[in-house]
Amino acid sequence: MRHLIDPMDLSVKEIDDLLDLADHIIENKKRYAKVCEGKKLATLFFEPSTRTRLSFEAAMMELGGNVLGFSSADSSSSTKGESVSDTVKVVSCYADIIAMRHPKEGAPFLASMKSDSPIINAGDGGHNHPTQTLTDLLTIRREKGRLDNITVGFCGDLKFGRTVHSLIKALSRYENVTYIMISPEELEIPNYLKEEVFGKEGMTFEQVRTIDEVIDRLDVLYMTRVQKERFFNEADYIRLKDTYILDMPKLKKAKENLSILHPLPRVNEIAVEVDDDPRACYFRQALNGKFVRMALIMMMLGMGKVE
Ligand code: NCD
Repeated sequence: MRHLIDPMDLSVKEIDDLLDLADHIIENKKRYAKVCEGKKLATLFFEPSTRTRLSFEAAMMELGGNVLGFSSADSSSSTKGESVSDTVKVVSCYADIIAMRHPKEGAPFLASMKSDSPIINAGDGGHNHPTQTLTDLLTIRREKGRLDNITVGFCGDLKFGRTVHSLIKALSRYENVTYIMISPEELEIPNYLKEEVFGKEGMTFEQVRTIDEVIDRLDVLYMTRVQKERFFNEADYIRLKDTYILDMPKLKKAKENLSILHPLPRVNEIAVEVDDDPRACYFRQALNGKFVRMALIMMMLGMGKVE
């Protein structure tokens, strides 16, 4: 049985196949309307979510399957003191596949050791978020036509942002990706990732403090929210939360075909006026999240393209 805990659990070939399947689903939705009939997905969300949980549920429904689960730890037996492993062991008797989000890094991995059904990590603390990464890769590939030979700027909270951590790992396997990391000093990516990802031979990586100095070079700009819930003190959050605000004047120097991504939710880091610019991809990206999760559920349940 396979689980998806870290984006590196999937080979490049598997990722490419998954994105191909997602593209095929987008072009041929009707063919996939019943492939998961009789199957159940459980969503165990110990931490809040809008897009990830609802797109997983919508994905399973569009495949003809059913969904069950909870959307906060308060409505599960964890309030009675049940361990995550026990909860998952039990739920795996009811569901064919489980998507799980937890504030503690490593919780989905521990759960996968006890589960009788495949576990998908839907975000574990500041660590990983592999299904957001699949969403991001599908979006970049659909917008740019490729995942190699691109310059990507990552902006905002690179320290706590799990979507950034997972995406830089996944992109490191494609040729000639240039990374420009835009953050205040306090929110730089953790050292373990600098070593693990940027320490590899042939990696090109820069760290800068402003969007302005690099925006004209970017093919993709990946904006992120400052992760309030992971700060140890509120004063630091308040000081850092509005460091970057992308607005129309800032986009003046950007390429015509820049793709602006954001995993959402947005707080202040992208002005609403940017939404109408064709370079804003973040709502298309949220929609892609549903299709890529349809492809992932199918793949993990052992199904392939419907010709
Ligand atoms: C992200 C997450 O939960 O890490 N959201 C998402 O899944 N789309 C990003 C965030 O919360 O800032």
